[in-house]
Amino acid sequence: MLVRTDNRQRSCEWYARAQQSLVEGVNSPSRGSAVYLHGPIVLERGRGSRVWDLDGNEYVDFMMSFGALIQGHAHPKIVEVVSQTIADGSHFAAATSAETEAAERLRHMVPTAETVRFTNSGSEATMLALRLARAHTGRTKLLKFEGHYHGWYDPYCLNGHSHPANQLGPKENPTRFPDSEGIPSSVFDDVVLAPWNDVEAIENILRQHGHELAAIITEPIMANMGCILPREGYLQKLCDLAHQYGALFILDEVVTGFRYAPGGCQQYYGVKPDLSTFGKALGAGFPIGAVAGPRAILDRLRWGDGMVLHYGTFNGHRLTMRVIATNLDMLSSDEGAVYKQIHAVGDSAISGLSEVFRKRKVAAIVQGFGPMFQIYFTNRNAIYDYRDYCQYADTAKYSRFVHALLDRGIYMTPSNGLHWIISTAHAPLDVEELLRAADDVCGEIR
Ligand SMILES: Cc1ncc(COP(=O)(O)O)c(C=O)c1O
Repeated sequence: MLVRTDNRQRSCEWYARAQQSLVEGVNSPSRGSAVYLHGPIVLERGRGSRVWDLDGNEYVDFMMSFGALIQGHAHPKIVEVVSQTIADGSHFAAATSAETEAAERLRHMVPTAETVRFTNSGSEATMLALRLARAHTGRTKLLKFEGHYHGWYDPYCLNGHSHPANQLGPKENPTRFPDSEGIPSSVFDDVVLAPWNDVEAIENILRQHGHELAAIITEPIMANMGCILPREGYLQKLCDLAHQYGALFILDEVVTGFRYAPGGCQQYYGVKPDLSTFGKALGAGFPIGAVAGPRAILDRLRWGDGMVLHYGTFNGHRLTMRVIATNLDMLSSDEGAVYKQIHAVGDSAISGLSEVFRKRKVAAIVQGFGPMFQIYFTNRNAIYDYRDYCQYADTAKYSRFVHALLDRGIYMTPSNGLHWIISTAHAPLDVEELLRAADDVCGEIR
């Protein structure tokens, strides 16, 4: 029997109150009325794979704090380490054993991480990676891809949102859409924009701009237009092309790191980036970012003439560092057996949802594998890039679908640009509940 979770009176009251003090009643547009058509659901508590809102409704959570909660909510080991650590003080902004222990574990899991610098968010990590790349190469230009999101630092804020397909311009010279006001247009003079997953297009663009590039940055799996996988050999090709033109290859693993494999997508796909950025799952719910790579590049952060500046009161936050050590120990125990479980649970959700859509004759695909996937309402067999997403994904239908799931005990963001997350806390029962709710919703969405 499906339990209805659509009594949200207290959520509505708090949302009204929040709007008096907070812009749009939230702290990021992705949490507010731009996405949640009837206003946000105000969450109060979480445990394992479940969250509860202010009205006491219980949901299976498939958003998992945009992927940060790789161990689910309030994992007893994380709760324990946080409680023990904070009893001795929160943070000293000084050298601690905690930061060394966290860095050692990261290096152990990520083969290209000879050394590491911690930041407080993924945005800070990609910001720092770009500064390092510019210092290392002596060049200023950056190549980013349409539809990729690397945080909200100025030069990355280009074509991060979808736009009507007929406005996207030619592949070799895409129309440029800044994502934000308040960024000088001169910032984008240093940004080369390219379509993703298309070798011919990038080769043409590089012939023109390759020699000016400090870096090519890419997400290994496109996670901000849903879940779009790289074509066979594409990531290696990008890495080779970057090197051919003397640019660094930055792999932004803020979403994928510690999720697909102990060493992230670089391990899964067998590529060796010059710099990698991490965040989200690394901190198991605590604010974190990291840049990892060889000493030859990261040592530019050393104090002295010609150094790359990176300060931060909260860098290497002691509480987060202890959480990281515990989190990475859990993820790498039993030779990473937990990844088998995440993949199996995720794959069963993907095949189960596909079957529901097939049986219910709903034109939809479920794209991705294991820990992360997305549903696209489309007649296409696959979504390969930003342009496909802009043209063929019925994002309004997806929003209606997820809003209906929210009324049936499934928590997920209604934004089609994000992705479903499987954590170590998800179990087959959670997938069963999802499939039952999805089947019920398929009867009503058009
Ligand atoms: C691929 C990618 N890079 C960087 C970021 C920025 O991370 P943060 O939100 O921690 O600043 C995000 C955030 O969603 C992301 O998806």
